[in-house]
Amino acid sequence: MSIKKSEFVKSSQNCEQCPKVDKPEYAFIGRSNVGKSSLINMITERKHLAKVSSTPGKTQLINHFIIDDEWYLVDLPGYGFAKKSKTLRESFSKIITDYVTNRHDVVCFFVLVDIRHNAQKIDLEFMRMLGESGIPFAIVLTKADKLGKVVLKQKVEDYKKELLTEWEELPEMFVTSSLNSTGRDELVEYIRYVNKVIAQG
Ligand code: GTP
Ligand code: MG
Repeated sequence: MSIKKSEFVKSSQNCEQCPKVDKPEYAFIGRSNVGKSSLINMITERKHLAKVSSTPGKTQLINHFIIDDEWYLVDLPGYGFAKKSKTLRESFSKIITDYVTNRHDVVCFFVLVDIRHNAQKIDLEFMRMLGESGIPFAIVLTKADKLGKVVLKQKVEDYKKELLTEWEELPEMFVTSSLNSTGRDELVEYIRYVNKVIAQG
C-alpha cells in the first residue's frame, strides 16, 4: 500500500481559488482537533506534509495535496468552533459550506470523528447535509490508540447503532490511529478501489 509521491499543491481561501483538477479528489473534514491533518501525514507517511497542532483551529485554509500524480487529498479547516451560532448549520464556516456546495470534484468526503466521544450533534448534522445533497461520504473514527481494545470495540458498535437510528445503511467506516498507522492500508485500499471504479467510468 505504499505511496511513492505526495506533494503540497496549494492553499485556497475558497473554491474559486482551488486548483483545477482532472483527477479524483478526497477531502478530510470534521471537528477542529479531530486529527484531519495528522491523518494526511499518516496516510502519506510524511511527518510534516500537513500542519498539525494540539490547539484547535490550526488548519484555516483549503489545502490540496497530490498523491502519486493520480489523486488529490484535501485538508480542510475544522468545524464546530463558532460559539454563537443560532443553528447547528450556521456553525459550519463559510469556507466549508462553500467547499461542500461548490466543489464538484470531490468523489468522497471522509468525515473524521474522535472515537472516544459519543456521537456529536454537529457531526451528525454535517452528514445530514451531505446526505441531503447526495454527496458520498465515509466515516473515519480517529485516535483509536487512546482506547483499550474492549472499549474501542464497544464505541464502534455504539456509533454504528446511533447512525442506524437515522440512516438506512451504514456508510463505509474506518477505525484509525495516526499514532500507530492503524487503518492506513484499509483507507488507501478504499481510495484506490474508488479510483479504479471511476477510471472504468
Ligand atoms: P484543525 O486543523 O485545528 O481543525 O485540527 P485537525 O483535525 O487537523 O487535527 P490535527 O491533525 O492537527 O491533530 C490535533 C491533535 O490531535 C494533535 O495534537 C495531534 O497530535 C493529535 N492527534 C491526531 N490524531 C491522533 C491519533 O490518532 N492519536 C493520538 N493519540 N493523537 C492524535
Ligand atoms: Mg488541521
